[in-house]
Amino acid sequence: MNILVTGAAGFIGSYISRALIWRGDSVIGIDNFNDYYPRNCKEFNVDLLNATANNNLLYYSKDLINPVYTALDNFAQNVYKKSENPGSFKFYEGDIVDYEFLSKVYSENKIDAVIHMAAMAGVPYSTKMPRLYTKVNVDGTVNLLNLSKDNGISKFVFASSSSVYGDREDKKVTEEDDVSKAVSVYGASKVAGEVLCHAFHVIYGLPVVIDRIFGPIYGPLQRPYGMFHQRAINYLYNKKTIQIYGKKGLETAKDSTYIDDQVKGILACLDCNYDFEVFNIGTSDPKPIKIWIDTVEKAFDEKLKLEIIDVDKADVASSADISKAKKMLNYDPHTDMYVGVKRQVDVFKMMPDWYKTMEKV
Ligand SMILES: NC(=O)c1ccc[n+]([C@@H]2O[C@H](COP(=O)([O-])OP(=O)(O)OC[C@H]3O[C@@H](n4cnc5c(N)ncnc54)[C@H](O)[C@@H]3O)[C@@H](O)[C@H]2O)c1
Repeated sequence: MNILVTGAAGFIGSYISRALIWRGDSVIGIDNFNDYYPRNCKEFNVDLLNATANNNLLYYSKDLINPVYTALDNFAQNVYKKSENPGSFKFYEGDIVDYEFLSKVYSENKIDAVIHMAAMAGVPYSTKMPRLYTKVNVDGTVNLLNLSKDNGISKFVFASSSSVYGDREDKKVTEEDDVSKAVSVYGASKVAGEVLCHAFHVIYGLPVVIDRIFGPIYGPLQRPYGMFHQRAINYLYNKKTIQIYGKKGLETAKDSTYIDDQVKGILACLDCNYDFEVFNIGTSDPKPIKIWIDTVEKAFDEKLKLEIIDVDKADVASSADISKAKKMLNYDPHTDMYVGVKRQVDVFKMMPDWYKTMEKV
């Protein structure tokens, strides 16, 4: 199949693209390398995909890319289907808000399915930049939906978020729960994306599956800004004191999914035959920050310096009821958190200095 992956240079989008190439699909990747976090990281992800598809590398040397690629390949053994003949990877640098650019991508390629991962992600930045979030997450999504219905796409997978549920720490949320009470602009923009997906399904018959991703998704090359695991790893490596600001301090629990488990969930959304469905893809097993800290300390065999500060009211930590995805997609997240974090640390240590000493994480 020819699959358009938006946000292919990002954390989750690059893992999905790699899994698709491994199983023999042709990936058309789009990303605008926005400056939400350093471009270097995104170029690195694109070159890992070039290595996967046996393309020439564009940004880095083989000496840098190949060891990381081999590590990711090893971690993925027996996780994904692998074809004798890997698929291809074609990359476009461009913006999903730019309709002309997107039309060109659709006209130059016969696209069978779309996995729409590109977005302004993260809650705190959406408080500072609300209009940017609606521009990308709402206008960008409607651009893709429109071109997808015009081009007879057989499946549109939309990356939504647990943030659509708002502040629901009282229960494990199910797909039937109310999503009209977002408490962040980011969450609201994802609700809007979901509702547009539904309208395009009803009006034009576009087959859509929505993945409500429960993050922070963690694992090697995690999105470097605003993610607890990466911050803890960076701070421990650089011997800095980390501030803990969740509502319940060290007891704040996160339903945090390992990247390969999340990607398997997304692939199941792509491969299923449902015309319109919404799934929670998380672990349903939130673990307190103090245990996540322990995973990082064990991986380094060193202690992290901590400071507990005032609560952040926007830091909502909902947990997923994933029984629907288990039943209807055979979704089965099972990566041990100590194994997942150790992998993240091992790859961190293989990265160049600009990555390991990144500020602002
Ligand atoms: N990582 C998580 O824990 C998490 C949790 C819930 C939902 N999600 C969703 O999953 C998706 C991927 O998240 P991620 O963690 O990989 O983030 P990411 O920032 O690493 O990836 C998103 C990619 O989209 C690209 N992008 C942004 N705006 C664009 C535009 N206008 N045109 C083209 N490309 C653009 C960015 O450059 C980036 O490479 C997002 O939709 C996010 O909202 C992620």
